[in-house]
Amino acid sequence: MSLFQVQGLVKRFAGLLATDHVDLTVDQGEVHALIGPNGAGKTTLVNQISGLLKPDAGRILLNGLDLTPLPAHQRVAAGLSRCFQVTRIFPKATVQDNLLLAVQAHAGSSLLFWRARDSESMLYTQAHALAERVGMQNVLDKTSGSLPHGAQRKLDVALALAASPSLLLLDEPMAGMGPVESAQMVELIESLRADMAILLIEHDMDAVFRLADRITVLVYGKVLTSGTAEQIRNDAQVQAVYLGNEEIAA
Ligand SMILES: Nc1ncnc2c1ncn2[C@@H]1O[C@H](COP(=O)(O)OP(=O)(O)O)[C@@H](O)[C@H]1O
Ligand SMILES: [Mg+2]
Repeated sequence: MSLFQVQGLVKRFAGLLATDHVDLTVDQGEVHALIGPNGAGKTTLVNQISGLLKPDAGRILLNGLDLTPLPAHQRVAAGLSRCFQVTRIFPKATVQDNLLLAVQAHAGSSLLFWRARDSESMLYTQAHALAERVGMQNVLDKTSGSLPHGAQRKLDVALALAASPSLLLLDEPMAGMGPVESAQMVELIESLRADMAILLIEHDMDAVFRLADRITVLVYGKVLTSGTAEQIRNDAQVQAVYLGNEEIAA
C-alpha cells in the first residue's frame, strides 16, 4: 500500500468542479510532482490535503490513517508537513529563534519529562540540527526577514522538517528564485528524499524533471495522466495541453 493516498477527491466551488474525482498516490521514498496549467486545481488540491479546505467527497490517507476528518494541526502531528508559498517565518526573529519555536511546538508534552535545563539544551540541539540540515548553521543569529528570498524559503523548509514528516508537501518552493537559489533548493530537496516522501507542486519544469520519480498532470480539476518524467515529457496529450510552449511549462 502507498504511504499516501488521495481517493476520489471532489471539491466544488458553486458550479465549478475544481477537484474532479482525483486519485493520487505517493510511495515511500518517492518525489511526486503535481503539475498543470493555471487554474488546473493544484492549490485547491493541496489545500484539501493539508486541511485548509474540506473536500465534498473522497478520502486522504497517510500511513493507512484517514486524515480527511482531521484539522490541519492533527495532520501535521500524523506526519504530513507543508511548506507555504507565503512563508510562516517570524521576520523580526532570528533564524535560531524561528527554529526553536518550531522545535518546541512539535516537542509538545514530551518536554514535561525533562528538567528545564535539559529540555532547553535539547531544543537548541534540535534547532541547530535543522539549521545544518538546510545549510543555515552560519546564519543562526541573523534576523530572518533580512535574509535573501532563497534563504527564507530554506528556513521555511527547516520549519516544516521540525515536525519530522513522513510526507512533505512543497508548494512552489522555487517561486521567485533565480537560477542559483533554484539549484540550491533542488539540491536540498534531493537531500531530503532519503528520509521522507515529497509531493512537489512546481512551475520550474527543469526542477520537476530533475527531481520527480513520478509526475501527475492535473487539467480542469482532473488527473490527465500520471507517469515517469520520461513518459510525461513524451505524452502527446500533455504536450497538447501545453501547446504553444516549446517545452512543457506549468
Ligand atoms: N475559493 C474559491 N472560490 C471559487 N473558485 C475558486 C476558489 N479557489 C479556486 N477557485 C477556482 O478553482 C479553479 C482551480 O483553482 P486553483 O486550485 O487555484 O488552480 P491552480 O493552483 O492549479 O492554478 C480555478 O478555476 C479557480 O478560479
Ligand atoms: Mg495555484
